[in-house]
Amino acid sequence: MEMPLIVTRDEPLTEELLRLAAAAGVVPEVAVDAGQALRSWRGASLVLVGVDLAAGVAALAPPRRTGVHVVGRDGVPDVAFRHAVTLGASQVIELPGSGDWLLDVLADATDGQRAAATTVAVLGGSGGAGATTLACALGLVAGARGPACLLDVDPLGPGVDRVLGFDRLDGARWGALEQTTGRLGSQSLRDALPRRGGLGVLTWAAGARSAPQAFAVREALSAASRGHEVVVADLARSGSLSSEVAGRADAVLVVVRPSLPGLAAAARVVSGLPTAARIGVVVRGRAEPRAVAQVVGAQVVASMTDQRGLDEAVDLGRGPVWSQRSVLARTAREALGWCAEA
Ligand SMILES: Nc1ncnc2c1ncn2[C@@H]1O[C@H](COP(=O)(O)OP(=O)(O)O)[C@@H](O)[C@H]1O
Ligand SMILES: [Mg+2]
Repeated sequence: MEMPLIVTRDEPLTEELLRLAAAAGVVPEVAVDAGQALRSWRGASLVLVGVDLAAGVAALAPPRRTGVHVVGRDGVPDVAFRHAVTLGASQVIELPGSGDWLLDVLADATDGQRAAATTVAVLGGSGGAGATTLACALGLVAGARGPACLLDVDPLGPGVDRVLGFDRLDGARWGALEQTTGRLGSQSLRDALPRRGGLGVLTWAAGARSAPQAFAVREALSAASRGHEVVVADLARSGSLSSEVAGRADAVLVVVRPSLPGLAAAARVVSGLPTAARIGVVVRGRAEPRAVAQVVGAQVVASMTDQRGLDEAVDLGRGPVWSQRSVLARTAREALGWCAEA
């Protein structure tokens, strides 16, 4: 496995960087001279060059690569910026001020070696089909197995936190994310979200709803997929934001009511999805899967009957999955299995 590379002979700086690496869960290699740095330069997941050795490394003209940063403690001399340019560094980082930021960068460099999450977009073939409910069930089932994240991308929906009974939990909502600038760290996002068990949710604060900005959704999707095993997005049935998220997802699930109007609407939704999307239909109701697939234009990957007592459980804050043997839990497992095959 690739390791981050620290290049410095400055002991307090080494100590500080090793402490941050430990917090990020990575074991770096430490090079104490420019020659040693050069040998590990290409293979490292990330390179942190101390201000003390920046001139020496720059003099060896190492090959250009991404993920190089120049790091100093308590004030960075102007000359460090010149060396940073020579090294093709993307940042000059000053500690301890930028420690949190660097922690994220270190954690993300490790996340990059993990397989990225399976990302699943969910939308309704027609209004009230059960998309938000299925998205919540997918999140709960995935969260019971490992870190999972549910993004609420439907400003006109009920709020996934309300459906799950997570609405009283503390944590960051869309509004907070839209105020942050720069790259969102996967670790920061995972730690900031309201979370219960393995599932974290990103939605709106009560009374603070507006369509999330496209850049915030892109950042959230990218950070969430680096920090979780499964990411589920609950989408509106149309709009540019839905197309964009559907286009980036590994799989798109369309929840279909098998009535004539339900099938007709679902066919339109499916034909409006990005052509590259891998689309699976989840039928809510009884129908012949092949007939549904033919009308809607996408394969059926799971079918469910109505789950009794659902509305009451949601009203009581118990969420849509209170037993792993319930209709929604079983359907979510089946659908997730198909999504993960991608
Ligand atoms: N599997 C299901 N069994 C019973 N009721 C369901 C099921 N899925 C959704 N519902 C109910 O249908 C209504 C609409 O569900 P929702 O998930 O909000 O749909 P959508 O997001 O597609 O508009 C809700 O009242 C919900 O409780
Ligand atoms: Mg919905």
